[in-house]
Amino acid sequence: MESNFDLVIFGGTGDLALRKLYPALFLADCDDRLHPQGRIIAAARQALDDAAFRAKVSEALMRFVPEMVQGARAECLQRFLARLTYFALDVNDVNQYRDLKKSLDERDSQTVFYLSVGPALFAPIIGGLKEAGLNTAETRIVLEKPLGRDLASSRQLNSLVLDAFTESQVYRIDHYLGKETVQNLLALRFGNTFLEPLWNRTWVSDVQITIAETVGVETRGEFYDGTGAFRDMVQNHLLNLLCMTAMEPPSSLDPDAVRDEKLQVLRSLKPWTQDTIRENIVRGQYRAGSMAGVPALAYVSEQGVSASSSTETYVALRAELSNWRWAGVPFYLRTGKRMAERRAEIVINFKSPPHSIFQSPLVPNRLVIKLQPEESVRLYTMAKASGDGMHLREVHLDLDFKEFFPERRQDAYERLLLDVLRGNPTLFMRRDEADAAWRWVQPILDYWATEAGPPIGYAAGSWGPPASSRLTARGDTAWHEERSV
Ligand code: NDP
Ligand code: BG6
Repeated sequence: MESNFDLVIFGGTGDLALRKLYPALFLADCDDRLHPQGRIIAAARQALDDAAFRAKVSEALMRFVPEMVQGARAECLQRFLARLTYFALDVNDVNQYRDLKKSLDERDSQTVFYLSVGPALFAPIIGGLKEAGLNTAETRIVLEKPLGRDLASSRQLNSLVLDAFTESQVYRIDHYLGKETVQNLLALRFGNTFLEPLWNRTWVSDVQITIAETVGVETRGEFYDGTGAFRDMVQNHLLNLLCMTAMEPPSSLDPDAVRDEKLQVLRSLKPWTQDTIRENIVRGQYRAGSMAGVPALAYVSEQGVSASSSTETYVALRAELSNWRWAGVPFYLRTGKRMAERRAEIVINFKSPPHSIFQSPLVPNRLVIKLQPEESVRLYTMAKASGDGMHLREVHLDLDFKEFFPERRQDAYERLLLDVLRGNPTLFMRRDEADAAWRWVQPILDYWATEAGPPIGYAAGSWGPPASSRLTARGDTAWHEERSV
């Protein structure tokens, strides 16, 4: 049985809450995975009463829950809406937290504070909670990304939160860790024997991790222009995917066993020098172009973006790990907005066979673990083409998760919110992990702040600047889509 809870969402009228958090909680409720008495309390400045707030959430569910769009799941709507209440507060007003406390005090339930607000509001909220005595040992606090802008500010933020809460109460969210296929990566690697002997420098030539998006910056121009692709995606999502791919087998699925192994990966990342930053990182920004035949604006023409902005919307880099398993194997990480396709995937390129007995050229094997849009694992292998002679061709073996598991897939936020309510921190970043990730990226931020020129332009709807193909070509490989059959 799930335990009773009070989930307080600061920023409860914002984009993230409406697009992701309520839809995730709603679907969990429809599947009877929330305690019947559990409450969701949204806190923000707008003057709304409960009825107006519920109408707003209802409208969001109609838009953002695919099943609702198709007319299903309506039967649990009223039950879900009845859990919602609205609490108008300005987080900077310390007195208002006492009223919040009164409404939470009368209940015997797990209290969770979810900070779904810009990072500038973290300090006043943590201060207000502390001042009102709301930071009791039984509470939990969820911190949305970005957790700082650099190593110094992330350390400051961590000190601040750990002054009011203990580490075990703090849940630093990275929703990529909640994605089904990322979980499946653990199952694939550690629930089978056939891959593990090959999962190393002897057999793997390079690894490519891509998160390509077709969307631009949409309504978040102002936030994004002060953040950029590197802080928004590389420092967190891509590094977490790298950790899950490269880590040693943990001794168990205990939260710290998994996070200890992830931390070892972050600590093994080869530190940057000015030369390696120049040689191994490509920084791009989208220019005007076309997305599926529809003209698309340049980044600098987007709402909220400075016309002279030099913020990057694309990053590709080549990283290396200094450890026995991976020494010398390039890990190419890449992300971009307004790319040709929406695609998130991890590609393991294997080495060529040491000797060929065939006339046909042999294409090295590739394992492609796809996170989105669909979830699948595909192994590219060589096979004999039918007919006379020994002509070999590349073919693929497919595992389509939807085919084997047709039931509804849990969204990343749904899994992570349920984990917070249950007190399972495995898929959340520990302080030392966040610190190690920032430490590795800091030299890049320093270099870009002083030495780097403007980002290289690429057309909206393309696969990024040509320099990113040169990056992989130098390592004698090519991006997955440049090689796909
Ligand atoms: P929004 O700007 O859409 O929402 C901000 C929320 O904070 C609103 O509910 C706003 O309500 C509230 N707020 C702002 N100032 C105050 C204040 N002084 N007192 C009380 N409430 C306040 O931001 P997002 O929802 O997009 O983002 C929230 C967080 O989540 C950010 O840290 C962002 O980086 C992160 N994030 C967002 C993602 C997204 O897709 N949107 C994805 C991943 C992370 P009101 O104005 O009524 O007070
Ligand atoms: C968020 C970034 O963390 O992840 C966004 O802030 C990005 O810029 C989003 O669009 C991508 O998430 P997903 O799950 O849609 O791939």
